[in-house]
Amino acid sequence: MWARGVPYDEFTRLRREAPVAWFPDEGSGFWSVHRYADIVTASRDVATFSSDRGVSFEEPTDEDMAARRTIIDTDPPEHTKLRKIVSGAFSQRAVAVYEHFITELTEQVLDASPASATFDFVDAVAKEVPIRVLARIMGLPAADLDLFIDLGDRLIANTDPEITDVVWGRDDTDAYRRYPFRSPYGKQLWDLGRQVVAGRLAEPGDDLLSRLLLAEVDGDRLSEVDLDNFFSILVVAGNETTRIAIAHGVLAFCQYPDQWDRLRADPGLLETATDEVIRWSCPTHFMRRTAATDTSLGGAGIRAGDKVILWYVSGNRDEEEFSSPDVFDVGRNPNRHLSFGRGGPHLCLGVHVARLEVKVVLAALARRFSRFELAGEPRRIRSNFTNGLKTLPVRVSR
Ligand code: HEM
Repeated sequence: MWARGVPYDEFTRLRREAPVAWFPDEGSGFWSVHRYADIVTASRDVATFSSDRGVSFEEPTDEDMAARRTIIDTDPPEHTKLRKIVSGAFSQRAVAVYEHFITELTEQVLDASPASATFDFVDAVAKEVPIRVLARIMGLPAADLDLFIDLGDRLIANTDPEITDVVWGRDDTDAYRRYPFRSPYGKQLWDLGRQVVAGRLAEPGDDLLSRLLLAEVDGDRLSEVDLDNFFSILVVAGNETTRIAIAHGVLAFCQYPDQWDRLRADPGLLETATDEVIRWSCPTHFMRRTAATDTSLGGAGIRAGDKVILWYVSGNRDEEEFSSPDVFDVGRNPNRHLSFGRGGPHLCLGVHVARLEVKVVLAALARRFSRFELAGEPRRIRSNFTNGLKTLPVRVSR
């Protein structure tokens, strides 16, 4: 079902008929939460809906979790402490200084894109910008860039045999249980991160990683293991997600050219268009929580230990929250979408970086291209977790 596309119609029906439903398949079964309001309630109540068993469908052991826990898999008070240490570096003010170089970098990527009218937008543009932004803010060595892109791809799309030769659930991935996404590529990324972090410890620079090394809250600093894990989550969380938003944005503008005309005619719409692209694309379909105690949500009785899947992709189309949710509207305001999470302490740490990237790319595209049209069928990543596009063939008018 997910290989075909996001099952929006099925979610609409579930929101109406079974807002919080039990699905017995997928290991020990899971609660599936479809309505906007219930998702926000669960996100907010971190004492009941815990992140400490991870945020995916996986069922890791205590040992696995201890080895690979990142900020996203922690609950307060540990989460509060970690978040305090890193949040300054990701504040709107701290991030605003990147605008100039993100613009420069985007222009370079567009200059290097094919001069022909038809090309693959994912390959030429969408995948190039986010990883280079991350590399620059983290001060990664240029020589490692291609490897980073490749590892990031293989990790996220770990259910698509076309992208990774080690498919989760099909191959014996037990040897890699302790690494991100239970994947050998998780181990490679982790090893690379170790080298980079060790280099920064020996010789701090002016980059984000060095600042994180020195950041201190109440006398506490990040440990070396925290830093290694933080490195992995930045690459995993900040690369593919932003790429997906940019690619789906262009796909939406192929499908709704009137919205492209509207945005080009009024650059004042850039901010609302950015959030609409992020709502529409919902790069991360869900986050998982685990019930810490017996509780109820949306009328369903949930038992301590049950897996609870919060479908942000469904909440983003909830007619109770959004007027005409299936309309792509670059002027939508308010737009309290769930693509970055909402209501709880895990709200995407990179929210300001991501918004800035999407906004800068949209502005640069609007300066160059008067029209996007589909030049073939886009190909999706086979995944229920990520809304990734492998290819997006477009024809552009300049
Ligand atoms: C459009 C792009 C992005 C989307 C859609 C996105 C989405 C998300 C989501 C859904 C979460 C979990 C929220 C929750 O549990 O409720 C999250 C957390 C996180 N994101 Fe993003 N993200 C994006 C870009 C980025 C970027 C660019 C970075 C880093 C530079 C980043 C770093 C993180 C981190 C570190 C967390 C964990 C925060 C915590 O647990 O406190 N993300 N993101």
